[in-house]
Amino acid sequence: MRKLALYTLVALIIIPLLVSAIPEELIIYHWWTAGGEKEAIDAAFRVFKEKYPEVKIVENPIAGGAGAVMKPAIWGMLISGNPPDTFQVHAGGELKEYVDALYLEVVDEIWEKTGLEAVIPDTLKALVKFRGHYYAVPINVHRSNVLHYNPKIFDELGIIEKYGDPRGWDLNTLLEILRYIKEKKPEVNPFELASRNKWPVTHAFEVLLLIHAGPEDYVKFWTGKFDYRDLKHPVWNAVKDVLRFLATVEKEELVNLNHPELTWDQAAAEVAAGKSAMYIMGDWAVGFYIAGGFKYGEEWISVPFPKKVFILLSDCFNVPVGAPHRDTALAWLEAVASVEVQREFNLIKGSIPARVDVEIKYPDPYRPETAEDFKTATLVPSPVHGALSKEAFVTEMHNILTSMLASVRAGADVDIAVKAALTQIARAIETTGLPTFWEEVGIDYFITKR
Ligand code: GAL
Repeated sequence: MRKLALYTLVALIIIPLLVSAIPEELIIYHWWTAGGEKEAIDAAFRVFKEKYPEVKIVENPIAGGAGAVMKPAIWGMLISGNPPDTFQVHAGGELKEYVDALYLEVVDEIWEKTGLEAVIPDTLKALVKFRGHYYAVPINVHRSNVLHYNPKIFDELGIIEKYGDPRGWDLNTLLEILRYIKEKKPEVNPFELASRNKWPVTHAFEVLLLIHAGPEDYVKFWTGKFDYRDLKHPVWNAVKDVLRFLATVEKEELVNLNHPELTWDQAAAEVAAGKSAMYIMGDWAVGFYIAGGFKYGEEWISVPFPKKVFILLSDCFNVPVGAPHRDTALAWLEAVASVEVQREFNLIKGSIPARVDVEIKYPDPYRPETAEDFKTATLVPSPVHGALSKEAFVTEMHNILTSMLASVRAGADVDIAVKAALTQIARAIETTGLPTFWEEVGIDYFITKR
């Protein structure tokens, strides 16, 4: 009798504990709605559901690319004390802002349980670990400095024979090529842009600044770690050249004039359709082309741009403090850390796994090359995709650059528009408090030199 009572008591305590350990619902936010993106996250959900078939995934995809629309919505939820179970976040500065505001849980236990420490490269670890603790689990590594071009146009005009491998082009060569394309084939836009969500313009600027200024000055600029009050500083000279490049491209109509209407994926499609010759965009465009069934070598080719440096960014997931289904969120993070999710997701996404031990047979020639570069090229983080800068400053950059293009379109002189943009950028460094954001680290923290 006493035994039975004891069993009943144990059952009463243990069963509810077991039941509560079974995840039921996962409220998740991400911005993967474009071709390639959607298929990739669906593949990750499929793997997760194999293990947890009873979990209802409450998905909240917010279109806009690069989190342009989602990030302010997430801040609103966190500030109002209404967090989801997990949300997409970039490794680096973007993650740090949530950590500094005390909105995220430490997830060291997931790192330990899954043995992530041993398989995530140090450069990436440094972007998800703050004051000795991990706050997110990375699912991938994307490269921002990629040139996507239309092979038919390039072949017809003999671009590579005439100007060499795009992997090594400099800023002046690029401008010369754009002018050449316009002269030989005026019906084609030499350069593709997408400014509807603004950030793709800053994305092009980020890549061009790296090409032109090199990794050190690039990092100095995006972290405000230089004497920015001295407008004659070499960093400003490089910035000015890139601004002038973009303003000239607009002025001389070397660009698709419909760019204010286009999102990043619509712009990628224009290149494949032969309306434009080339496009600077991250390698999620590779995922877009593959998912859309575009033919590699005929409709698109993607190459590292430049090859010797890899601008990296990483999509991660986290657990906010007060997540309504914390156990489910932890189970999701464990899945994100797994070889299987990283393989299925990245195969489609255009990125490479964050883990170094995942074997994948990529369907495109771009990924094996970029995966190799990740091990051998100099690495720097991407400011536009949350890794290097401060969100408020990057947002200012989006506005300043798109306004500069709009003013040139409206008839402003290139030099005047560039000068105005430069002054606004210098002011934005100051007003957004950029130089104090990464105060505790030097520029070497951000550069893996090879
Ligand atoms: C990036 C994100 C990528 C890709 C891209 C376009 O910020 O890291 O995964 O989706 O935005 O939406």
